[in-house]
Amino acid sequence: MKKVTVTTLYKKKREKEKITAMTAYDFPFATLMDESGVDIILVGDSLGMVIQGGHSTLHVTMDEMIYHTRIVARACKRTMVVGDMPFMAYQTSVEDAVRNAGRFLKETDASAVKLEGGASVCEVISAISSAGIPVQAHIGLTPQSVHQMGGFKVQRDEERLMADALAVQAAGAFSVVLEGIPSGIAKAITEALTIPTIGIGAGPHCDGQILVMHDMLGINSGHVPKFVKKYAQLGEEARKGIKAFIGEVKDGDFPAPEHCYDKESGLPQRFNPRSSGQITAAFFLNVCIYFLPEP
Ligand code: KIV
Repeated sequence: MKKVTVTTLYKKKREKEKITAMTAYDFPFATLMDESGVDIILVGDSLGMVIQGGHSTLHVTMDEMIYHTRIVARACKRTMVVGDMPFMAYQTSVEDAVRNAGRFLKETDASAVKLEGGASVCEVISAISSAGIPVQAHIGLTPQSVHQMGGFKVQRDEERLMADALAVQAAGAFSVVLEGIPSGIAKAITEALTIPTIGIGAGPHCDGQILVMHDMLGINSGHVPKFVKKYAQLGEEARKGIKAFIGEVKDGDFPAPEHCYDKESGLPQRFNPRSSGQITAAFFLNVCIYFLPEP
């Protein structure tokens, strides 16, 4: 299976084929996304909020990002994996930035990194990409600057946004995330750039779209931004399953005989036609045991 690369993404932009991207933080969901054909998985520092339960992304560390990126990348045969540079991993010096970006490629199977900022981080983007590491930029609403922006606010300064977009492209970014900006501005930027734009809360004209997995699969019970569409209600399903388990344990309905091991054979105690979906060796043995006379 051919891995998605920066070349694949450039081709998609040229041919006006939309790019799909999602965040993921663990092996099972990354496997589902890879098998479903998502082009890019961003192991976002949003994990500080959706996985760790924080109010912002600021406390996430490099080691935490490496851990999550490693287990996501292990699942991806086709999907491109991008590791997100956390707060203070690239702001302190260009040397720190290159070293930390390098960790994503040396210690995980990610093939690119993302960092936040426009013109102000161009020196860093240029140094990292000169080291052979593809960099995805991220402009507009940049959550690591939440205190500077005075909250998670839509960004509307078109002149500045366009200047940032052109600057990150010139510095060598292979793509740019446009977050929380009006659709018309995102359209103008997408038309002005030769690198793909990936939108989140930036309207339909971007070259691709990304959503945070917990928001779009309905795992979060808290606030979900207006731009999110919920494609599933996994939180509700999980809640139902958890409540059913609690009820059955309390009522003594779980475990039933088919969930218990037989002392002699070590096999499940009785063949239960309700729970059998596949014919396996264990299934076959169970059927034989079921019809054997009791000793
Ligand atoms: O950290 C993240 O998940 C992100 C996306 C919202 C683009 O930066």
